[in-house]
Amino acid sequence: MLITTVDKLGRINAAPMSFVMPVEMDPPILAFSTGYEGDTYHNVGETGEFVVNLVTAEIKKQMYICSRSFPRGVNELEKAGLHWEPSEKVKPPRVVECPVNLECKLEWTHEGPEYVVVAGRVVAMNVRKGALKGGRLNVEQVKPLLHLSGKSFVIGDRAVEL
Ligand SMILES: Cc1cc2nc3c(=O)[nH]c(=O)nc-3n(C[C@H](O)[C@H](O)[C@H](O)COP(=O)(O)O)c2cc1C
Repeated sequence: MLITTVDKLGRINAAPMSFVMPVEMDPPILAFSTGYEGDTYHNVGETGEFVVNLVTAEIKKQMYICSRSFPRGVNELEKAGLHWEPSEKVKPPRVVECPVNLECKLEWTHEGPEYVVVAGRVVAMNVRKGALKGGRLNVEQVKPLLHLSGKSFVIGDRAVEL
């Protein structure tokens, strides 16, 4: 996932995060885990908002560029050649190249020794054309990128039924 935030001046930040999980169904709560020193946590502290953008195989190189530690205030989307557009209900923008964008408002945090879990309520969801099939993610078309470790990834483009 690519998490977009803004600081109190409205400056955009984007960071890939693989430690992301759903926490609650109704109302929908999503959480990610991140470091205390990162711009993402800093910005969520300032604005209480973030957007979770689904990363696909097509933008894997751009996503990786966003993981570089640019100085605070630098827009990683611009550095990576990605595009953004206004969100519906929160200030952080949605990433245009991502087929699903989940707009979140901070609900709670849980402080661990090294990482902090940041949980947000999904207040708006944007799904681009063709990204859903039968009410589920159209993985054959979307080709979501799953993080294995380091610079290794899995392309999740095949659904199996039990
Ligand atoms: C594929 C990938 C997954 C990552 N997952 C996480 C994560 O779950 N949590 C985290 O804190 N950093 C993660 N990182 C590292 C951050 O993206 C990186 O430290 C980034 O500079 C943090 O940005 P920020 O300072 O804007 O928050 C990941 C990096 C990559 C490439």
